[in-house]
Amino acid sequence: MKKVPAAPVLLSVRQLRVEFASRGLLWRRQAQLPALDGLSFDLAAGEILAVVGESGSGKSTLARTLMGLQAATAGSLSYRGQELRGLGKKQWRPLRRHIQMVFQDPAASFNPRRRIGQALAEPLQALRPELDAAERTRRVAAMLERVGLSAADAQRRPQEFSGGQAQRLAIARALIVEPELLVCDEPVSALDVSVQAQIINLLLELKRERGLTLLFIAHDLPLVRHVADRVLVLYYGRLMEQAAVETLFAYPRHPYTRALLAAIPDSGVDAQCRALDGERPAPGMPGCLFTARCPMADEQCARRPPPSRRFAGNSLAACHYAREDVPA
Ligand SMILES: Nc1ncnc2c1ncn2[C@@H]1O[C@H](COP(=O)(O)OP(=O)(O)O)[C@@H](O)[C@H]1O
Ligand code: SF4
Ligand SMILES: [Mg+2]
Repeated sequence: MKKVPAAPVLLSVRQLRVEFASRGLLWRRQAQLPALDGLSFDLAAGEILAVVGESGSGKSTLARTLMGLQAATAGSLSYRGQELRGLGKKQWRPLRRHIQMVFQDPAASFNPRRRIGQALAEPLQALRPELDAAERTRRVAAMLERVGLSAADAQRRPQEFSGGQAQRLAIARALIVEPELLVCDEPVSALDVSVQAQIINLLLELKRERGLTLLFIAHDLPLVRHVADRVLVLYYGRLMEQAAVETLFAYPRHPYTRALLAAIPDSGVDAQCRALDGERPAPGMPGCLFTARCPMADEQCARRPPPSRRFAGNSLAACHYAREDVPA
């Protein structure tokens, strides 16, 4: 049988750490956990990699750091071998042609005074200067039609569109420069349930059509199961588990992943796996960050940080008692 070559790695993240300044007044400053801590993963060309975790787990910080909108404190992020960390605005410019993002709140990401045609032509003007005005207009019209709107919509302003239409516009604006990597930060969570599926289907069609690679941030696990190839599970900025989507849902190795799945109705995961109520982890605590909420925690968990254990199929789980009886 002919061996299919592995897809090249587009994005490589190593030991990424992002810290925010402590909150509060000088004399009552509270130490904070880093928003991301020691995060490492690869994203292969053509893959849909989902990032999941409760609110505050660092998902948006990851997206913003990848886009150069947030500075990293330590570690590295490289795109096709080029280090992104520390690049200035000017150095980022040629990369914007290849890496684009769709935000959670589409309406807020458009300037209300600009017509849609202008908003979509702008990235072309900045990043594809070789195209003339007529070609830009032609591409804007074609892109609007491709996302299910009409060429005439170029004359309208952002506030004239519904939430679902605004997200179609945001997708159009991101894809008009023909990027290869699209970062989507909860692209449908602000939308009515009835339009969520339409937007997801549009994204998946465009992904297939254009051979896109997606970093797909979401907290809706059934949606992730439908969309993703592989999943990263974050908890307070740390990678708890990484696995192919089928493996993660059928055989979650990490108690935190099991807790997330147990919260979904009919997930088949035992309710006893639910996370317990517990304090947020304290900065500088020595052991596993999930100790206070973990139904399996013992005294070792509070003392020793669990190592990131690697398993077959490029899976990983950071738990002293990660499940091992998973079929390869
Ligand atoms: N601009 C910021 N300033 C200070 N703290 C921030 C900022 N952005 C995010 N954080 C903190 O970083 C942590 C991760 O936040 P975020 O990345 O938004 O998580 P998620 O997207 O998973 O909900 C949270 O504790 C949040 O309060
Ligand atoms: S290391 Fe201990 S506390 Fe942390 S997830 Fe595993 S069993 Fe739970
Ligand atoms: Mg977020």
